[in-house]
Amino acid sequence: VNLPDQDHFPDETVLLFDQVLLKNTKIKKWIDRFKFRIHLKSGEKLKSLAEYSRVLKIVSEMAIPKSTKLTFVSLGGGSVGDFSGFLASTYLRGRRLIHIPSTWLSAMDSAHGGKTALNLNGIKNQIGTFHPAHEVWICQNLLISQPPERLRECFGEAVKMALLGDSKLFNEFEKQKLKTNLVWKHLPKIIDLKYKIITKDPHEINGERRLLNLGHTLGHVYESLLGWPHGISVLMGIRFSAHWSFHTGLLPKKDWIRICQVISNFDFDDKFISQARNVSASSAKKHLMRDKKIIGHDEIDFIFISKIGNAIRKKVKFSDLLDELERQRKE
Ligand SMILES: NC(=O)c1ccc[n+]([C@@H]2O[C@H](COP(=O)([O-])OP(=O)(O)OC[C@H]3O[C@@H](n4cnc5c(N)ncnc54)[C@H](O)[C@@H]3O)[C@@H](O)[C@H]2O)c1
Ligand SMILES: [Zn+2]
Repeated sequence: VNLPDQDHFPDETVLLFDQVLLKNTKIKKWIDRFKFRIHLKSGEKLKSLAEYSRVLKIVSEMAIPKSTKLTFVSLGGGSVGDFSGFLASTYLRGRRLIHIPSTWLSAMDSAHGGKTALNLNGIKNQIGTFHPAHEVWICQNLLISQPPERLRECFGEAVKMALLGDSKLFNEFEKQKLKTNLVWKHLPKIIDLKYKIITKDPHEINGERRLLNLGHTLGHVYESLLGWPHGISVLMGIRFSAHWSFHTGLLPKKDWIRICQVISNFDFDDKFISQARNVSASSAKKHLMRDKKIIGHDEIDFIFISKIGNAIRKKVKFSDLLDELERQRKE
């Protein structure tokens, strides 16, 4: 579908949007129709307590009825969505939220599942709530307007979903390079795969949902230390996990080779592989210690791959993870 008509939203609607989208005249026109709107600068800096309090102040000073109909519409990528979701879930103890994701990554991943997040002290997603959107609009005209680098940034999450539960989808990624048409075609399937996992564990209590963290343990380290986009960090985190899974004998060699092949299929620059080697165990340690998957003080829940289409969660010693990091750097 295309961007929804304005009369779809109640009068008490606040649009929180990525200011980058103003460059597109059609989208700008749509944005300008909202009486209450706040432009945001996307990125990890947006997901901060400082921005949160700045924007909350603007909202509270708006001449808008604070009724239960009050609706926040988030138009943007994952950073805008995480931020707006947190704001919507805490303002007046929670108001309605509608996501209109504008990046491939947010359309296939972050707009679904209800996780909201802010960063703290340079560590990702340390503050957050569960606040599923009342509606998520997947708008073709908005998504296809993205430049190619946005496509590259969703590879990580797309490959992750295929590895977690759909070997046929993985085959598709193997056959051809990721293109806009291919992502658009498979978007419903990828979204369904995410919902299949989260409905088993909506609030991350029994651990099933943790499978979605495949590639994210090292991914978040790369994102923080190397400043890579989230999706690329996750892809390299998946590579780390696949390599470790293969090394321990869990993942058959042929699957390890296929995973490497898919990563390089995406025009994946060797530059990322060599930059990842610069991350030493000692520099990664500080970030890993704050990982939410940590258990006690010396263990962590890690997601391994047992075959294409199946991942497993295992407790590992923190020191083993750091040793593996050093081993892979030297290999
Ligand atoms: N809540 C969750 O479940 C969840 C899941 C995955 C990722 N995330 C979070 O999502 C964030 C990453 O998502 P992202 O990559 O969408 O981030 P983002 O919001 O930073 O967007 C990436 C870039 O795309 C630009 N952009 C947005 N829409 C565009 C469009 N239509 N055309 C051109 N450029 C556009 C943005 O301005 C930005 O420069 C991270 O903060 C990550 O932690 C959250
Ligand atoms: Zn992610």
